[in-house]
Amino acid sequence: MSEVDITVVADADEAARLVAERLAEQARAGGSIVLTGGSTPRHAYETAAELEPNWSKVALWWGDERCVPPDDERSNYGMAKEALLDRLKGGPVAAHRIQGELGRAEGTAEYNLELAGVSTFDLVLLGLGPDGHIASLFPNFPTLDVADRDVVGSDAGLEPFVDRISMTLPRLCDAHEVLFLVAGEDKAGAVARALAGEPSCQTPGSLARAAQGVTHAVLDRAAAAQL
Ligand code: 6PG
Repeated sequence: MSEVDITVVADADEAARLVAERLAEQARAGGSIVLTGGSTPRHAYETAAELEPNWSKVALWWGDERCVPPDDERSNYGMAKEALLDRLKGGPVAAHRIQGELGRAEGTAEYNLELAGVSTFDLVLLGLGPDGHIASLFPNFPTLDVADRDVVGSDAGLEPFVDRISMTLPRLCDAHEVLFLVAGEDKAGAVARALAGEPSCQTPGSLARAAQGVTHAVLDRAAAAQL
């Protein structure tokens, strides 16, 4: 398992700023970005849109989605739309959202089709749950072993308790760069296990490493406290 290059900054705002700069850089360069859900990246998305309002060279994907309509407040796409897409002057060449409203089986099948033949992602952004989950791949769930598909349906291992659709580990790791953004003291234990522990299904984040490049983590001091 490759090493993770870790940057620790003072607080969540500074962490978001660093990640926003990286997102804006990728938007300028073009290629493909996989966005993450959860609440931590919102500020990074807003700042990235300010730093670079033209994303017309980049294709966007989502690492996971909750099975809700896109305008539901729990939708990962909905969050990215509000924080990023609606603020851009030049929208992305494509925004490949996961259709959570189709439900787990159909939404998963559709995204598998959409990803067929798609090559290595340039940048995969990941958050980390306090239980160590990434995307919607939860600790010790059988979904962690799925390697013959790009996308898998899952129960929720944590709030919000709605069905999930998630890229699989091999698909998330097929990247030139995997970038973790994690903030807050409730994540400190998970961060230590995911970034400095042995690879284990108990901590899915420990299994997420760029297969074709580098893995970076931007952490605030609270999240890095147990490293
Ligand atoms: C999701 C996410 C998930 C998220 C972590 C961290 O759909 O919930 O994609 O993997 O990144 O749960 O979320 P927070 O930033 O809200 O703690």
